[in-house]
Order: sequence, then structure tokens, then C-alpha cells
Amino acid sequence: MNKGQKFVVGNWKMGPKSIAEAKKLFMAIAPSIPRGVRTIVLPPTLYFYELRKQYTGSSVLFGLQNIFSEREGSFTGETGVLMAQNIGATHVLIGHSERRAQGETDELVARKVTLALASRLVVILCIGEKERDSHGEYLAILKKQLLSALVSVTFSQLKNIMIAYEPVWAIGKGADFSMKPGDVHEAVLLIRKILHERYLGKKEVFSVPILYGGSVVPENASALVYKGEVDGLLVGHQSLDVRAFTEILKIVGKGGEKKLVF
Ligand code: PGA
Repeated sequence: MNKGQKFVVGNWKMGPKSIAEAKKLFMAIAPSIPRGVRTIVLPPTLYFYELRKQYTGSSVLFGLQNIFSEREGSFTGETGVLMAQNIGATHVLIGHSERRAQGETDELVARKVTLALASRLVVILCIGEKERDSHGEYLAILKKQLLSALVSVTFSQLKNIMIAYEPVWAIGKGADFSMKPGDVHEAVLLIRKILHERYLGKKEVFSVPILYGGSVVPENASALVYKGEVDGLLVGHQSLDVRAFTEILKIVGKGGEKKLVF
């Protein structure tokens, strides 16, 4: 990663409701992407092929929101990593808290990370505590999630990893619930420290992009990125809102002009 490169990931989750709306949304967003911001859209798997085919050549990269934990076999309803690769996905989100809430364990997350990297996909690995306790238990949770996901990730594979720090309690709410930039910065430092130890002090760990996600809106985007000192943002519900998402892109691209709410 170039030092200073910024990222915005749009996690469309289970929206929009039709492919026509998905195309409309994409077409409205695409012209507003600032040059310096690497933008990755994660549409629902059902829309992926159509969007990717139609918009190849735009500056947007496309990824999937999940893959299955086995490479191949009889697994009804699942999306395999080879399919993801074949269909033109460059990125895959793994370990999102909404999937963990459906029973995805640290072990399953690790399996998916290993499979995705072996298929040359860039992994956007989500970690985040369910709640913030006053004894610092959340720090141990973050460490466990991170180390178990990276258990078989070699140093040379690390360049294909991005980490999305998403405190679960801050997801899907509003600006008032997003994390304070100082706390985001503390989490970033912790993640860098864990990576530094895990990869035996190699300085390249400082190039692993770390994003923040959880109730990102235009009003807090600047503070989260520039005071929180993250490399970018993972945007959920606001990535389905053209005005909000293009505003967030603009803010991240320009270094933040929007009035701060903190
Ligand atoms: P949110 O979602 O921006 O709607 O909080 C973030 C996410 O779930 O990735």
C-alpha cells in the first residue's frame, strides 16, 4: 500500500431490493469517486456479476460480502471461493459481526481467510468487540479475533490483508453511536502492536490498511479518518444513500472539510 492511500468500502449488505436499483445506485456513485480514494463496493452476491460486467473499467473494485469455508463440495446455497475469483471479485469481506452473530466462529473465519488468500483475493478482515467493558476485556477479545484469523497467514500474504475494526455496538446506528476518534486511534495502535509482535517486528506490518466501520456518516467521517488515524472507512447503511456516500468519499479524498461533530 502507498503510505497515505485511503480506502472506502461500501458494504451494501442485503440491499438494494432490485438489480435495477443496484445499477442506478452504482451509476450515481461511480462519477464521484475521488482519484486518491481506493473504493471497493461489496454488492449482494446475486448482483455481483451483472454489476461487475457492466462497470469493468470504472475505478471501483468489487468484492463479495462472504465466501464459504470449504473450497468445493456439496454445500447448498453457498458461494465458493473459486466462484468468487472467477466472477472477478478482487476483495472479500470475512468475519463481519453480522455473520459471526449467525454462528461464524474464529476458526471458521480463519479457514475462510486462508482459502481466500490462496485464491489471490484481498481479504477485508472484520474484527470488533460486542461491548466495551471498563476492565479492558475488549482488548483481549480483539487480540484473540485478530490472531486466530491470521493463524496461518504468512508474512508474504499480509500484503493482501486489510483490517476493518468494527465495534459491534456501533454498527447500524447513527452518528451519536459511532466511536470517538480517540478510541478508534487506541484500537488502531493496539492492532498495529499485535501485528508487529505476530510478524516478529517486521516494519511492513505498518502498511496493512486499517479501516474503521460502525455508523459512519458524512458528519463524522473526517474526524474518524483523520483524528482516528485510520486508512479508510467501511460504510454500511450510508453506502446505499447516494448523497451520503458521495459526501463521505469526498471527505476522505480531500482530507476532510466537513464540520466535525466531536
Ligand atoms: P453501518 O454498518 O455503517 O451501517 O454501521 C457498517 C458495517 O456493518 O459494515
